[in-house]
Amino acid sequence: NNYCVIMGGGIGSRFWPYSRKNLPKQFLDFFGTGRSLIQQTFDRYKKIVPIENIFITTNVLYKELVQEQLPELDESQILLEPTRRNTAPCIAWASYHIKKINPNANVIVAPSDHLILKEDEFKAAILKGLEFVSNSPQLLTLGIKPNRPETGYGYIQVEEEKQGDFFKVKTFIEKPQLEFAKVFVESGEFYWNSGIFLWNINTILEAFNEIMPEVCIKLTNGEEDFASCPNISIDYGIMEKANNVFVQLCDFGWADLGTWGSLYDVSPKDQEGNVVVNGNSLLYNSHNNVIVAPEGKLTVIQDLEGYLVAARDNVLLICKKDDESAIRKFVNDVQIKL
Ligand code: GDD
Ligand code: MG
Repeated sequence: NNYCVIMGGGIGSRFWPYSRKNLPKQFLDFFGTGRSLIQQTFDRYKKIVPIENIFITTNVLYKELVQEQLPELDESQILLEPTRRNTAPCIAWASYHIKKINPNANVIVAPSDHLILKEDEFKAAILKGLEFVSNSPQLLTLGIKPNRPETGYGYIQVEEEKQGDFFKVKTFIEKPQLEFAKVFVESGEFYWNSGIFLWNINTILEAFNEIMPEVCIKLTNGEEDFASCPNISIDYGIMEKANNVFVQLCDFGWADLGTWGSLYDVSPKDQEGNVVVNGNSLLYNSHNNVIVAPEGKLTVIQDLEGYLVAARDNVLLICKKDDESAIRKFVNDVQIKL
């Protein structure tokens, strides 16, 4: 009865230029393990649900990439979106699809750009969550104890009311401003939304019907009218508004590879605090940098502090490592140039 939907349709623009539109970060092998992030995600879930119950949702642009990287999947397990509409329409669509196959499925909805360090704890948490949602009509998310006021995440405030390790969610706030994020973390009452959701198929479809009926009408009126769905994430679209959200508090070495800063935090560093992705560089008096060496080239650097040097294809980017909003701006401006 258990199914898994892996969402692999994002562009990963904050990892530009390592992540490019034609090869987004979920298809990249950041740590030279031989498995890309989406492959690692698949490996994790195939230990929990049967392979034939795993679906990948992605943009039509990435069909070949998914087929290449996950040859175990049948074509019918790759759900292709004709346009980018973010995660709410993607999840609604996958849910209708699964409902036809199994009208009482329990579903894990998972991002494809995370690292999980403690695999056993992870599996145990997912199994426990699946049991909860199979007995209880709640939308469950896995919550992580925050350690910094990161503004790229959803924040979850919990109620006193709880069922075992499952807390009722009082408020869900997606991507708050920095001053709010600081207050949330200091208060000790908030958890990060891991972005991993569990629910019974009927619970999520009821939530869509109630909160985003326009999406349901678009997707059920015969033609799959995906393109006219609103462009909105599940977090803003459903999780902030639903009043049957629960959170399971988890600790399984979760890291979201969302930005260069987060990659830096979780990566092994040399003695000078540099992270080198892809090898081949020679660094002199340089500290706390992220270097993504261009393939087939030796990168030599002197006297550099706290920078990102990343090369891929026809782009070389050199900028401050921790300025994420700058990277979004570059990507935007570059679209005009490239
Ligand atoms: N199929 C499909 N279609 N997948 C998509 C689309 C789409 O249009 N857009 C994004 N995705 C995939 C991404 O590839 C990623 O695996 C996942 O959905 C989440 O999207 P992100 O764009 O990475 O979301 P986020 O990181 O900004 O925020 C989410 O994750 C955080 C934790 O990592 C939210 O759920 C936050 O609340 C959460 O804290
Ligand atoms: Mg993300």
